Formats: sequence, C-alpha cells, structure tokens
Amino acid sequence: MAKIAIMGHGVVGSGVAELLWNNRETVEKNALEPVSVKRILDLRSFPKLPYADQFTTDVNDILQDNEITIVAEAMGGVNPAYEFVSDCLKRGKSVVTSNKELVAQKGAELLALAAKENVNFLFEASVGGGIPIIHPLHKCLTANRINGIMGILNGTTNFILTSMYQKGMSFDDALKMAQELGYAEREPSADVDGHDTCRKICILASLAYGKHIYPQYVHTEGIRHVTPEDIAYAESWGGTVKLIGSVKPLPNGKLALMVCPMLLPNSCPLAPISDVFNGVLVKGDATGDVMFYGRGAGKLPTASAMVGDIIDAVKHHATIPTLHWAECGENPTEPFEDIPAAFYFRVNTRGKLPREVRGFELLKRDHAPDDEKAFITRVMPDSEATRLSTALEDAGVAVCSRIRLADFGD
Ligand code: HSE
Repeated sequence: MAKIAIMGHGVVGSGVAELLWNNRETVEKNALEPVSVKRILDLRSFPKLPYADQFTTDVNDILQDNEITIVAEAMGGVNPAYEFVSDCLKRGKSVVTSNKELVAQKGAELLALAAKENVNFLFEASVGGGIPIIHPLHKCLTANRINGIMGILNGTTNFILTSMYQKGMSFDDALKMAQELGYAEREPSADVDGHDTCRKICILASLAYGKHIYPQYVHTEGIRHVTPEDIAYAESWGGTVKLIGSVKPLPNGKLALMVCPMLLPNSCPLAPISDVFNGVLVKGDATGDVMFYGRGAGKLPTASAMVGDIIDAVKHHATIPTLHWAECGENPTEPFEDIPAAFYFRVNTRGKLPREVRGFELLKRDHAPDDEKAFITRVMPDSEATRLSTALEDAGVAVCSRIRLADFGD
C-alpha cells in the first residue's frame, strides 16, 4: 500500500484527492498496489468529505511521517512550497507538483536534490494541465533534435483572444467575461501579462535543451495591447492573433525564447485552437511536427496529470534519470532585439506612408477609418522594427500596434 499526502486542497489539490478516491480501482490496477491518501495539508477543514479525517494544518504531520513516501504539492507559488518540497525530498519522499512557478524558478536545484536522494521530482501537471507534454519530451521524442517548440500555454488568454476574434469584443470586455465565468483571476496579471506562459515555455525549453532557462531571461509581453482592429486585420490577412511561448535553437548555440502575441496564418496547427484549450507544437528533426492539444487547466484535467505522476512514482521509487536538466551557467538565450521576424504594424496618418514602408504588404479591413493603415514588414531583427517605429513617429505617423508574425518554419 502506497501512502501519499497532498499539500493544498484548492482547485487542483481537491481534484487529486477526488480522483484518487473516485478512481481508486483504476489507480490501484495501474500502480500495481493500492494508493491511499494519509494526509491533506490545508488551513481549512472539509467535514463532509469521505476523507475528512485526513486533513491537517501542520506540515510536520507529513514531513515526519515515514509511511508517507509520495507528496503531491498543489499549493502554488514559490514560498513556502519550495521549503516544503525540499524538506520532503531530503527526507526521501518523492514529490509530484503542478506548480509551474516552482519548477520554472527552482527546477534544476530540485531535480538535483531528488537525484541525490534517489527519489523523484515529477511535474507533468505544470505545463498544459491534462495534456501529456513533459513525458513525451523526456521519453518518446528523445531520438530527435528538437528544432523548436511553440505553444498556446495559457487558457485564460486564449479564451480572451478567442472572444475578441469571434465576438469583436475589446480586451477589457473579454477579460471581464472571463472573470465572470471563473476563467480569469480577479488579479489577472500572471495570465494576461504573459508570466504564466513564460514559466511554462521555460520548463519545456529546459527539458528539451537540458539547461535551466530562468523566466527572467525571456522577453515576455502579454495581450493587453491587442485590439479588435488588430484581430480584424489578422483575419483579413488569413490568420489570427495568439499568445505564444516559443523556443528555437540558433546556429550560434543560443536559444531564441519569447512570449508575445503573434500573428499566425490559418495554416499553422495552433491557429484553430480556441477558448480555454492549449496546444503545443514540437518540431522534431525525425518526427516533423507533433501536436499536443487539450485542456490546459481545470480541476480534473490537472489532477489527471498529477495522479499519473503519483502512479509513476509508486512504480518507480528510484529517480527516473531521463527527467533532468542542469543549471545553465551563462545565460543561454539570444538577446530579444536580435531575434528576427516579420512584423505587423497598424498606424494612423493623415498623409502618405513614408518611404521606409515602401514594398511592404498593405492590409485591409472592413470599416477602417481613412487615417488608419496596416502593413507587414519584411523579416528584420526586433531592434530594426523598433528603429522603424521611431522613424514612423518622427515622420508624424502614430504607431498604434506592432505584432510579430510567428516563425514556425524549419
Ligand atoms: N491560469 C492558467 C491558465 C491555469 O489560464 O492557463 C493553468 O496553468
């Protein structure tokens, strides 16, 4: 009998407890032994639950209990999760987590600690909720050189952008609707300013390229500045706007990472992914494009990934060596200013567009005011797009929007 503990009984932690309880026969069959929850750490009590007796407010009831061999951490945030997880690993307990902030900030250190103690630190649930993406990257796809990963990794922003696209809503109205439906937090910054996507692409990049990519290395933009006008131009161009986290290895050995809204052509497999769904496109040199799609958040999808990891930890007490990356040493990322792309611009001008714009593809949309123009540049580094922006402003052209075109070619 494997005895486990759950830290945190919020949305995800309660899902883990519920899934282990409701699916106990399936879990036992797949784990090859019964799995029972001995303790659940939370400040609240839940007297109506069938496992109400297992609740505790004292972390030592978990740390000091030698019968508990696996701990599912679902508290979120770096502190105190980092201290609790480190203590569990040092005491020879495997840890399973959905906490992307913890993995993105402390992954290399916690993986090394788990390896030292010969236990596991598993985090399938930290990226893509119920979508299997961590296992494929360190197991099934390891024969490939990974030529890039692009993902819609945040359900909240995808819901907002989908509402703007389908209903012509403004960002503010779409955010309000997402909040009313319970998709967006009252304080939505982690989602709408791109930080959540950043943590997730850092985890995928660290795993795919073997060195820890810290979120602070990654250029991160959110979607607050995207307007229905931009989305209308994207549509008339034959595409859409999505918040994308991406990583690509460069010939100079650096990694090009970024999180920003991007214009995707409808031919991109990520373009049709709508509402709260997530999608990850992995480009293997042998496989070609591989797409992962599903529910990237929510109680049971995320719990499904955590319980899958719990079952893995029951079956593999010793460290699974393939799930590993090292500290990075020097910053391995390419400066964002040097990363090239074509750019969409939307500008306002009463006069003609200046000569800097000559040769660029002009876009149209219905009901555009006379003084509005939009165009797509040739491929240029971000720094050159910034210089173009300044030159336009100097020529009396107001730059309203600038969005990168996704580079999903080989
Ligand atoms: N806030 C996240 C999202 C939850 O919207 O995708 C899952 O990480």
